[in-house]
Amino acid sequence: MRPLRLVSNMKSTLNSSPAWLALIHHHRDMQSKHMMTLFDKNPNRFNDFTLEFEGILLDYSKNIITDKTLKLLIKLVKQQGVEQFRDAMFAGERINNTENRAVLHTALRNRSKSPVYVDNQDIMPAVHAELEKMRIFTDKVRSGEWKGLSGKAITDIVNIGIGGSDLGPQTVCCALAPYASNLDVHFVSNVDGMHIENCLKKLNPETTLFIVASKTFTTQETITNAETAKRWFLGHENVIESDVAKHFVAVSTNDKEVSKFGIDLDNMFEFWDWVGGRYSLWSTIGISIALYVGMDRFIELLEGAEAMDKHFQEAPLEENMPVILAMIGVWYGNFFGAESSAILPYDHHLQFLPAYLEQADMESNGKSVDRDGKETTYSTGKVIWGTEGINGQHAFYQLLHQGTRLIPTDFIASIRSHSKLSNHSNILASNFIAQTEALMRGRNMKETRLQLRNAGVELKEIEAHLPHMTFRGNQPSNSIVLDSLTPRSLGSLLALYEHKIFVQGAIWNLNSYDQWGVELGKKLARNILDELESDKSLYEHDNSTDGLLNWFLDRRNKDKE
Ligand code: F6P
Repeated sequence: MRPLRLVSNMKSTLNSSPAWLALIHHHRDMQSKHMMTLFDKNPNRFNDFTLEFEGILLDYSKNIITDKTLKLLIKLVKQQGVEQFRDAMFAGERINNTENRAVLHTALRNRSKSPVYVDNQDIMPAVHAELEKMRIFTDKVRSGEWKGLSGKAITDIVNIGIGGSDLGPQTVCCALAPYASNLDVHFVSNVDGMHIENCLKKLNPETTLFIVASKTFTTQETITNAETAKRWFLGHENVIESDVAKHFVAVSTNDKEVSKFGIDLDNMFEFWDWVGGRYSLWSTIGISIALYVGMDRFIELLEGAEAMDKHFQEAPLEENMPVILAMIGVWYGNFFGAESSAILPYDHHLQFLPAYLEQADMESNGKSVDRDGKETTYSTGKVIWGTEGINGQHAFYQLLHQGTRLIPTDFIASIRSHSKLSNHSNILASNFIAQTEALMRGRNMKETRLQLRNAGVELKEIEAHLPHMTFRGNQPSNSIVLDSLTPRSLGSLLALYEHKIFVQGAIWNLNSYDQWGVELGKKLARNILDELESDKSLYEHDNSTDGLLNWFLDRRNKDKE
């Protein structure tokens, strides 16, 4: 394991390494190639550039790549020791070197009997015990055996958390909504009081269960929302302090803070510091998922992820889905200069996937210092963004089709929809496939001219319209097609992206498992909160921040006059 060097003013040498230089050279040949000509040269391209895993298709044929590109990228993966690093992660080595922690979200979905060691201690018994505790609890709540303060069964679950303690469970609950039965689940993350106020308005304290989900249990937004929920709960007639135990549970790694908050440790579900927040949905943080769809479905989700873990560990690099996705991302980000990448699900239940992957990817690989403390002299994590593809088509796809930037895209679709409206499903699928085609093909002058002529447009007008209606295409896309969105396929899909992020981080020699950058804003917010609460400027800021703060205070004080 490479040791952590805390301070270094040296720069990383990745971009002068042999594999990198070979890719720079190859990029010179590839940069002006059009994908359509690559298909002309190789009519087998679809077969050559697709992979299938348990009914999940990865079609990466619509990329500006050739066999040679992939070979050179694989050399880069090997040069960077990605396979050894992967094995170190699965083996429980402390690859999160700045926090001196193992990275073992994969152990949470290890369904085999094999042990996983952290510091010579097998962590699997604790993982299984917590899953069992989760099963007993969720079965009780779902069956109505768990009674609220007035003896009524629980009808509503409120997950209070933020970041990984919110996005993961919310993404999965939405994705698996067709599997839900009797409970409604709500997510509160924003400290803007409107979020929790709007949520509480709909709820009955007698039948509501709050899950306070926070790895650290010190996150200001979560604790503030949880306190508000508790006040709301206790503010009802006939509700007494001891009723809290029937309506509040915690999920955390921090039992001290959980106790301090007033939640009985019997009602706490544990996880461990070797689970990163953005990788925690597989842990007890997934309790809202298990409540919503049942523990058996939650286990299927874990099994799907485990299957992808095995594929990642065992498949040769050239047939390894996460490796292929990661390498293609590096190819565009580092050699074509792509700044962003869009996630475009064509499945309504995957509507939260872009937001989930924004955190997973950008909080992991948004780094400018490598594992050894050296400044990276190459780009790292791209801006990840997106929305449901079909809505995006009517909003921002214009820029994908005719803008000036190269924006690689991932299209994600399911063949079998949970909807019974088959005409809707066909329209949705036709749009997904057509968009990947249009992004690749574009439309040349000849085709445009012909189309306008056939539409009876006059010659003079045709010539005026031509530049506006012609576009180059050559926008790359991956298509990930699921047979259907099930707990298992979803588990595999999410693990696919986790490992893609891992591979990219390893290529760039990053620590993908810390997030020091988010701390400064939190610290400054604490100072500014003091100032807002005391109604005056207390600390020295820069001129702009002082100006903004004073403007805010002045205006607010005018309201009071
Ligand atoms: O501030 C960022 C972050 O630490 C994320 O990494 C994390 O998912 C989120 O806040 C919530 O943290 P916690 O689960 O400790 O409340």
